[in-house]
Amino acid sequence: ELKDNTIIIVLGASGDLAKKKTFPALFGLYRQNFLPRDVKIVGYARTKMDREEFHKRETSYLKNPNDEEAVAADIEAFKGLSTYVSGGYEDAESFQKLNDHLEEIESHYQSKERNRIFYLALPPSVFIPVAKNLKEQCYVEKGGVNRIIIEKPFGKDLESARELLTSVKQYWTEDETFRIDHYLGKEMVKNLLVLRFANVAMSAAWDKNSISNVQITFKEPFGTEGRGGYFDEFGIIRDILQNHLLQVLSILTMERPVSFAAEDIRDEKVKVLRAIPPIEREDTLLGQYVSANGKPGYLDDDTVPPNSVCPTFAATTLWIHNPRWEGVPFILKAGKALNEAKVEVRIQFKDVTQGIFKDIARNELVIRIQPSEAVYLKLNAKTPGLYTRAIPTEMDLTYKRRFTDTKIPEAYEALILDTLKGDHSNFVRNDELDVAWKIFTPILHWIDGKDGPRPRPVTYPYGSRGPKELNAFVEKRGYKRADAS
Ligand code: BG6
Repeated sequence: ELKDNTIIIVLGASGDLAKKKTFPALFGLYRQNFLPRDVKIVGYARTKMDREEFHKRETSYLKNPNDEEAVAADIEAFKGLSTYVSGGYEDAESFQKLNDHLEEIESHYQSKERNRIFYLALPPSVFIPVAKNLKEQCYVEKGGVNRIIIEKPFGKDLESARELLTSVKQYWTEDETFRIDHYLGKEMVKNLLVLRFANVAMSAAWDKNSISNVQITFKEPFGTEGRGGYFDEFGIIRDILQNHLLQVLSILTMERPVSFAAEDIRDEKVKVLRAIPPIEREDTLLGQYVSANGKPGYLDDDTVPPNSVCPTFAATTLWIHNPRWEGVPFILKAGKALNEAKVEVRIQFKDVTQGIFKDIARNELVIRIQPSEAVYLKLNAKTPGLYTRAIPTEMDLTYKRRFTDTKIPEAYEALILDTLKGDHSNFVRNDELDVAWKIFTPILHWIDGKDGPRPRPVTYPYGSRGPKELNAFVEKRGYKRADAS
């Protein structure tokens, strides 16, 4: 349940994440009355500014041109809840100052309870000093809860992730730590549990006997312009596959949890991830976009080293060695600067037994995570008319049409609310992170040049469907195009 007497402290309040996601989500929750009644929000960052200047910035983060008037009044009220403290991330004095500010707010509380939620919208280089300083200077020892929210990158490989986990663990317990993977807050990702386990028809077909191959795809129509410096250090696998797509995969393939309790769900996710061996080089296709149609190539970005071989596209195949999934390829693919924005899961079923039908399209279940959330099943039906011929058609659950009045929540809204409630189900547990890195570390070390020369990605034009090698890649792993049958 939500706690009264709560302060949400956003560290890195003038950074990109806070601006694009954290503040808008807090505001969204506030407008829908999901924040505790007496909540206060405190921004913290290095930039020196007074409250007025902070409020001006806050307003610019929250503006919604579609809804001007209603929003204006709410923004005013929201600003009334927010204050700002400036300070460094490494020194204890700055955090003492923050603590003084928090105590001053708390001195007005009616009861002794004090709850503090620290949201670290910060670069990984300061995670550890901030975790330490918060614990040593700003931690409520008695009469309330303290929670810390952190977000990727959680390290760069297994070893560095373990170091990070161990360092943070000195100060914050697992129960107090909320590791965000914002894909877990997306409506359609949350829907996977219901689709799978609340439908006998789905559960019955959910294994190697019925399913031929699965693709989990992330496509973005823009490149890394403006964040090339960050991206070049991480690459698409660390940016998208190792976290967002692997999380989707784990929920898609785990066994049914005993309950909806966070540990029951996460136990099952870890179990299935442990059955996946590290990705093989020959199961991987790497790409990098080049300039096309007036759009710059990856290497044209000034913040990217001129000869960088960093992949901006990757397709990998994962195999799950358990009785349910043995032999089914799971293809994870993600790319920047492609032809469209789309994230989807595509489950392709096996061919029907030959005989009365042959060369007939395979069933496919598509779960479109974004944009335009939908679940649709490609089915063969009889062509209406006085003859018998099968035609591929669709059973279509498009959310916009079916749930016309429902607003789909933003992922960050859902996750911040979970944090306030203390519900860990949609957050990444330490052992989950560990096993995720085990799957990806060898391939990442190869790409980073730790085991010899760095592999050179194939190129693809900005705005295209990806490398031309992609079709052959998925077909080799069993995917059959409907028009090919
Ligand atoms: C972030 C990645 O985690 O997810 C970005 O760092 C990416 O590169 C973003 O653009 C995509 O999130 P969404 O919610 O827009 O699909």
